[in-house]
Amino acid sequence: MRTHETAVVLGAGSCLPPHVVDNDAVIARGALLTDAGWIRARTGIERRRHASPGTSTGDLAVGAGRAALASAGRARPDLVLLATSTPDHPCPATAPEVAHRLGLGTVGAFDVSAVCSGFLYALAVAAGLVRSGACAAPLVIAAETYTAIVDPADRTTAPIFGDGAGAVLLRPGGRDEPGAVLATDLGSDGSGRAAITIPGGGARHPRHLPPPGPDAHFFHMEGRAVYAHAVRRMTWSSEAVLRRAGWAPDSVRAFIGHQANQRILDSVGDRLGIAPAHRYGNIRELGNTAAASVPLVLADPAVHRAVVPGERTLLTAFGGGYTWASAALTWPDVTPLAEEPDTAPASARTAAPAVPAVPVPASVPPPPL
Ligand code: UT7
Repeated sequence: MRTHETAVVLGAGSCLPPHVVDNDAVIARGALLTDAGWIRARTGIERRRHASPGTSTGDLAVGAGRAALASAGRARPDLVLLATSTPDHPCPATAPEVAHRLGLGTVGAFDVSAVCSGFLYALAVAAGLVRSGACAAPLVIAAETYTAIVDPADRTTAPIFGDGAGAVLLRPGGRDEPGAVLATDLGSDGSGRAAITIPGGGARHPRHLPPPGPDAHFFHMEGRAVYAHAVRRMTWSSEAVLRRAGWAPDSVRAFIGHQANQRILDSVGDRLGIAPAHRYGNIRELGNTAAASVPLVLADPAVHRAVVPGERTLLTAFGGGYTWASAALTWPDVTPLAEEPDTAPASARTAAPAVPAVPVPASVPPPPL
């Protein structure tokens, strides 16, 4: 099997549900004992998107995947990884149906479950598979529909989370190309399992037994504990990946952290010593979209207007598990595209035209031993 120098981002796409919900609307929806000013001051969030009833994570994933493929010039993926903590069903994984709906035939497809770190876990796995020669064009999607699992009446979670999806397509390439994934860092600490959880409905508390609590099928988060861990772990993981890349923090020109809370992002950026001018995000407009938050910033046209292809880029995320992950890459030379959620009826979905088998760009020779 032929190995490659690294994986390079060839296309980027996004998909957002059109329904915008501002802080006043989220408060009215759940009759929350809070106010828009509290939400804005404590989180940095002013509005978020909510999927309409009937729109699923798979629908958003198909939209983002299709946009990334169009951005990449309709190259044909040979693997689909879908990072999500809100799959369409507990079983099977959502990725195979997404691949089918994208017209990708019988390519490998699987879900990655690492909550808010999921996109960076999937990116690290996909980049490793490209380097090893096991695949040449993985499509990495992160899609979430937190409105499906958040209790609208829970003021500690309902104002924070939003729905959306982002995706990138990778190809083999050289380490000196814009978009090259140069280093990754993954970590976990299962002692934090209970701090971000849906307590019921899994093998620990099956649905046929009495639930462990009255709202056991909703998403729960111990915000204060998670906050402290998120700051520390994203900082340390970023430092680890910067060491691996051989980059000084102040040489980073695009810092994208998981859009959990603006105060968390400010703390991590300050601790790392990355100037505010080089930090990018969308939390004010989209809230916390869990695994989708980092790729949604990566696929934001406004960020592409501000960052020059090839500039040093640091991605970092923290989420349930606990899990955390970071990646050092150079800013990709792509034109990101956006698509609407694909909510075609199931009968129409199987009719998706097959993506023509356009080969991915020529791969680079393996590095010298
Ligand atoms: O995406 C995965 C990773 N997630 C994160 O990293 C999220 C991490 N956590 C956070 O972003 C923040 O902890 C929250 C935004 C969830 C909460 O902000 P906070 O400043 O950490 O507040 P807190 O949890 O320390 O709570 C302070 C007070 C509490 O009242 P008491 O116990 O002091 O009386 C809360 O009950 O604020 C109360 N509170 C609220 N008050 C008004 C919590 N939520 C609200 C609210 N409106 N929406």
